Order: sequence, then structure tokens, then C-alpha cells
Amino acid sequence: MEVLKDDLLRTMEDYFGDDSRRINHARRVTAYAERLLEVEGGDYPIVVGAGVLHDIGIHEAERKHHSSGGKYQEIEGPPIARGILNRLGFEKAQVDEICEIIAHHHSPGKINSANFKILYDADWLVNLADEYDIKDKKKLAGIIETVFLTESGKALARETYLEEKDSG
Ligand SMILES: [Fe+2]
Repeated sequence: MEVLKDDLLRTMEDYFGDDSRRINHARRVTAYAERLLEVEGGDYPIVVGAGVLHDIGIHEAERKHHSSGGKYQEIEGPPIARGILNRLGFEKAQVDEICEIIAHHHSPGKINSANFKILYDADWLVNLADEYDIKDKKKLAGIIETVFLTESGKALARETYLEEKDSG
């Protein structure tokens, strides 16, 4: 399974080239997704595939639509992901599920699988700091309750963003 993840990461990095921001984002989301997977019980190849490739459409979205908006990524991502996953030997059902997750990763509520929720929450665990003022802890606590789809996602967000770090 590590081989599979390494292949995915290498392919994603080749694709993004010198865009280290997107590479780091994909790596961080995948790492969070793996942690949530242990508790939520998703399907490893699906979660890791979706984690690594969820934003793979962002360059095409910017090129074709001049926007990195979620809706354009959802359109442009799946065909690129499909090509990569086919080349890496994923089964058709796995390719279909990963592409379905990518096609909805900014649109919660349409897919309700554990695999989708894990990817969605892992993306938010990384994005929270960019999208909201994380210094306002009270407001942030409310946002965490609203945004996350899994209990372990919420718990990890609280642990990461709300708990006072021991400055010892
Ligand atoms: Fe993302």
C-alpha cells in the first residue's frame, strides 16, 4: 500500500511541477486523511487516491476558466485523475469512486460515504487556517462544529486549532 501512495505522490508532484504550494497542500491533506481513516474506517486506496489527487484539476481550472474556484476544480479534476489512476493500475470501481469524490469535494451532502467525509474533513483541516481567522477561538469553535462532517475530523480540528499548545 505504501508503494501505491508513493506512486500517487510522485505522479501528482510531476503533474504540479514547480507549484510547491499545491504539492504541499495535497501532501498535508493526504496525511490528515490517513489519520481520520484509522478512526472512521474508510477504504485506504480510495482515501489516499482522493487525498493526493483531489485538487489535481486546479491548473486546468485556472487555464481554461481563469479561476481556481471549487466548481471549476470539480469539473476539471476527474478526467485528469482518471488518466493517472488508470495508468497506476487502479480498478475501475476504485477509479470511479475517487473521481466521484473529486467531482464533489467542494459540495458536501451529495455523497455520504465515509471515504468522502474523510477527504472533505482532511481538506478542511488544512484549509481552516487559510479561510478563517483562527485567532478568534470562540468563533472558530463554532465554525468547526458546522464545517466538519465526522466526529474525528472535529476532534482533530479542535486539537489542532483550539487547544493551547504547551509552551513549556
Ligand atoms: Fe484541497
